[in-house]
Amino acid sequence: MQITPPQTGPEALSSARLPIGIFDSGVGGFTVAREIVSRLPDESIIYFGDTLRCPYGPRTLFEVKTFAQQISNWLVNQQVKLIVIACNSATAAGLESIQRLLDVPVIGVIEPGARAAVMATRSRRVGVIGTVATIESGAYTRSIRAIDAGVTVFSTATPRFVEIVEQGLRLDRNPFEDIMAQTAAIYIRPAFAEIARDYLDPLCRCKIDTLVLGCTHYPLLTPLVRSVLGPDIQIISSAEETALDVADTLARRGQLAPAGTPVHHRFATTAAEPGDFVVLGSTIFRRPIEDLALVSIDDLEATMQPLQRPA
Ligand code: DGL
Repeated sequence: MQITPPQTGPEALSSARLPIGIFDSGVGGFTVAREIVSRLPDESIIYFGDTLRCPYGPRTLFEVKTFAQQISNWLVNQQVKLIVIACNSATAAGLESIQRLLDVPVIGVIEPGARAAVMATRSRRVGVIGTVATIESGAYTRSIRAIDAGVTVFSTATPRFVEIVEQGLRLDRNPFEDIMAQTAAIYIRPAFAEIARDYLDPLCRCKIDTLVLGCTHYPLLTPLVRSVLGPDIQIISSAEETALDVADTLARRGQLAPAGTPVHHRFATTAAEPGDFVVLGSTIFRRPIEDLALVSIDDLEATMQPLQRPA
């Protein structure tokens, strides 16, 4: 988390009314966006889903970093006051470089998840699951061990979980029902359970007492994961902890939207056909996705030149 000096005066007050920018490769980041707006009901957000280039997980870190920089620049051009990288793969690949490039605070999801895991573990044996990009980056291991070097981290890539989440969302077509309350019914199915066991049994054999869901799609799989892990292993998602970081950072900067500020959420996607983004996104976010911009890859690439600082 970045620590910045508090701001006061008219400048801070006007920037307090600006939206928070949040992005992911697709709809997974809505699990984080949902936590942020429920903790900070006076804040407006601009949510960007890079659906056309999703998934990020199998891509190289360099490629994901470039995408994350483009989207961050696009969000800055929309005048956001803070950016949340609501994607573990993009956080692993791009957080540091984006923090260096931009003047607005940038918060990722890995450090909050790592912190929550270190606070939760008693045996100091922590498991982490995520995309190939996230796990191969080693970002969780570094982040957890930077907080407590005595923790042993066992990590494994679980790429098919993203597929399972999206399949399950397509089974649930009512956009305004609370998907989080229905995830057991949607995801506890024999075919999904078999995949989950293949991924998670080896971690259980490592005697972990805490498992980090290191992908923003995965909170929807909590009941499925729980059905394999049993009752004794704690499951950590970084969404809540990230929302706390956002609240804390805005408070320190004097940039929390004043109570009663009119809220207007906006959305953007690179999808050529945004139907799935709207239906799946509103299912997770639990709010309608109405003010939607379609952004082309050319528009994103064009953001790179003017905003880069000279070396
Ligand atoms: N939501 C992304 C993450 O947190 C994973 C999805 C993808 O592979 O693009 O890593």
